[in-house]
Amino acid sequence: MTSPDSETVRKAFGHFATGVTIVTAIDNEGKSVGMTASSFNSVSLDPPMVLWSAGAQASEFEVFSKCRKFAVHVLSATQVELSNRFATPGIEKFDGIDWQMSLQQLPVIAGCPLCLQCETVDRHDAGDHKILIGRVIGVDINSDDPPLLYYGSSYHQLGESL
Ligand SMILES: Cc1cc2nc3c(=O)[nH]c(=O)nc-3n(C[C@H](O)[C@H](O)[C@H](O)COP(=O)(O)O)c2cc1C
Repeated sequence: MTSPDSETVRKAFGHFATGVTIVTAIDNEGKSVGMTASSFNSVSLDPPMVLWSAGAQASEFEVFSKCRKFAVHVLSATQVELSNRFATPGIEKFDGIDWQMSLQQLPVIAGCPLCLQCETVDRHDAGDHKILIGRVIGVDINSDDPPLLYYGSSYHQLGESL
């Protein structure tokens, strides 16, 4: 078996369907930062813990890799535009969107089905990504709107239950 080239790896990883989140945090000056991330997963129920991974390509990689807290917003199928906005480098991502700073000093975006506020408890270097593990310190379940899915480098929505 030969080592796979990067195109094959990208294609292979794209076979795994995920939801889509936006992760936010603040930098040292208190400025809000955010990026779209499909690498989110739940980890532990007790204590409640989650993980996601930030890629070295992200302009706010340094902020996320050192942040002490982060907020994960799970997106609904109606939020493709928001997902693309937070995956676009070089723009003021929070301009013109409905958001506010939480009591935990985390930027919380309105209208997302779920927002988890988390305290970073562990960080691991993993190739060109940093895995961030957080303990959930706040849960806001806002709606049961159907989730936005990501599969094969495209957005999808839920089909029929099996
Ligand atoms: C659906 C989707 C999922 C993504 N998931 C991740 C992810 O889990 N980790 C990551 O580092 N980048 C991920 N990205 C890419 C980042 O969102 C993107 O590189 C980054 O936000 C670009 O803007 P920035 O450089 O201003 O951060 C994803 C992009 C999209 C569209």
